[in-house]
Amino acid sequence: MPQINSINHIAIVVDDMEKSLSFWRDALGLELHELRDVPAEASQVAFLPVAGSEIELVTPTTADSGIAKYLAKRGPGMHHVCLEVDDIEAMLAQLKQKGIRLINEQPRTAADGKRYAFIHPESTSGVLVELYQL
Ligand code: CO
Repeated sequence: MPQINSINHIAIVVDDMEKSLSFWRDALGLELHELRDVPAEASQVAFLPVAGSEIELVTPTTADSGIAKYLAKRGPGMHHVCLEVDDIEAMLAQLKQKGIRLINEQPRTAADGKRYAFIHPESTSGVLVELYQL
């Protein structure tokens, strides 16, 4: 049986990265581990580690990206929870077999080699869930 090992990150969509960092970094005192552009997703992301997990802030860099559309429709806020799994293919097969609606039936591979897939909020009580295999 595939197993969930940890909450890898919690992602929040923000409309103003500096303003958001003034809360997460400056007011809470979390360390800004990384701030980088992700051209493939037309977004900028910030990672702030918290006890083995991370807060990920995401903001769009173009007006027509997926994240930009999400922001326009729903405003800033929680975007997804990412769970680390030991065998992503086995987990996707298990979820499919249980009738869970998947956004990605096959894992996708990120630029850094991590494999990931998203589960539709319709099957998760309204929260977009990402699976990661490191
Ligand atoms: Co994520």
